Amino acid sequence: MSNEYILVEKSLSLSGEVKLVGAKNAVLVIMASLILTDGKSLLSNVPNSQDVRSMIELLEILGAKVLFDSKNNTLEVDTSRIDSFKVPYEIMKKMRASVLVMGPLLAKFGCAQIALPGGCVIGSRPIDYHLNNFKKMGADIEAVGDSISARVKNRFKPTKLVLEYPSVGATENILMASVFTKGITRIVNAALEPEVLDLISVLKKMGANINILPASSIEIEGVSTLKPIEHKVINDRLEAGALLLASAITGGQIYLPDAPAWAMDLFLFKLEQMGHYIEVGSDEVGVTLKATNSPKAVSFKTGPYPGFPTDLQSPMMAAQCIAEGKSIVEETVFENRLLHVRELQKMGAQIQVEHNRAIVTGVDQLYGASVIATDIRASCCLVLAGFVAEGKTIMSGVNHFKRGYDSLDKKFIGLGACIKLMKIDEFLDFNKIDQFEENFEEIKN
Ligand code: UD1
Repeated sequence: MSNEYILVEKSLSLSGEVKLVGAKNAVLVIMASLILTDGKSLLSNVPNSQDVRSMIELLEILGAKVLFDSKNNTLEVDTSRIDSFKVPYEIMKKMRASVLVMGPLLAKFGCAQIALPGGCVIGSRPIDYHLNNFKKMGADIEAVGDSISARVKNRFKPTKLVLEYPSVGATENILMASVFTKGITRIVNAALEPEVLDLISVLKKMGANINILPASSIEIEGVSTLKPIEHKVINDRLEAGALLLASAITGGQIYLPDAPAWAMDLFLFKLEQMGHYIEVGSDEVGVTLKATNSPKAVSFKTGPYPGFPTDLQSPMMAAQCIAEGKSIVEETVFENRLLHVRELQKMGAQIQVEHNRAIVTGVDQLYGASVIATDIRASCCLVLAGFVAEGKTIMSGVNHFKRGYDSLDKKFIGLGACIKLMKIDEFLDFNKIDQFEENFEEIKN
């Protein structure tokens, strides 16, 4: 548990132009994929988030040499000395994405030893699709307590693998596991999220032979070696979503020149349905939003890409809380991803939960409260709600905010927001909280 808090005050008309960073969900798996190579790779547009730092630590434990220039967002990874296939529990528990080293380790060493992964509390999040498919490919898997050992006795065999659900992580792990498998491995019902496509473009740059086939299948024909690469990570559609919503909810105007609009269609469509003006750059990169003063509630249902992203469900719900009318939000990806509802209710939101649905009735006003963020995206949702709440919102669970975003608080401040990250000592000093408004101009600079 982090000993930090975020303090948010009402911040109207958040406006300006913001440059995005690379997508956390793309960079973590790309970093894991470097295990497949032997030598120095260079990644640019790497966000300086806690999860990236944890993945750096993990690669170093395996023997990689890593140089992170967080100011320029570049990451150099030398994998020529990777000599371990064991990931300790202390690292695994920090983030679920650590499970993504299993595929590359099996491809490279024929062995992998990991612990059950940690991460956000948004459901049971099993890894059975990963493990069962590794078994089908020819791995022996042994699970004792929290520890999982996998070993490929001979070599992985080319297999047709059918995913019950287009899991992002399982698709990525199988892709990386099969790049050296002689013959053709096929993943049917694969996830084709933009971040998976970025991984595929990285693997192809390395020399892998990968084809995407209709409908949602991926074929991998094994090659014998892969070479190091240089790659610019795709921009974060989830950071873009957070910034667009910040302007939308507060009645502002925003321009994101490098937003991957091509990967955000349904989300942008829903913002338009709410009444916000949206303009997309001619090559589907860049988004402008001019907020309406009378947003209408819209209903939406999360789903695999190109459906509505589950990672924007809670931030979008914050916008529905003060929109006119009723919104039905249906979460179909994770079974326990409505924990932010209780926190929004503390702020005066009118929400009823029925199974995996939240029925939100727009209210005129939210009110500041002490709230707890239970996952990365819920932290963003509560900050957004804080921008339109009367009074102070104090959010704990800041570790989630830091895990997923690179300086999003500073980007909000650049748009005119009143938000401050506080250490516990500072937080306990109520005078400082009272001085918050006066200090705002100082924080901004
Ligand atoms: C990734 C993203 C996360 C995003 C999610 C869905 C990263 C680091 N994280 O998570 O931000 O919210 O995709 O877009 O990229 N499932 C199983 N068994 C498995 C694997 C998954 O039952 O072995 C279930 C999950 O519990 C969940 C659903 O499948 O209900 C989708 O999960 P998945 O797509 O695998 O999400 P992640 O890869 O964990």
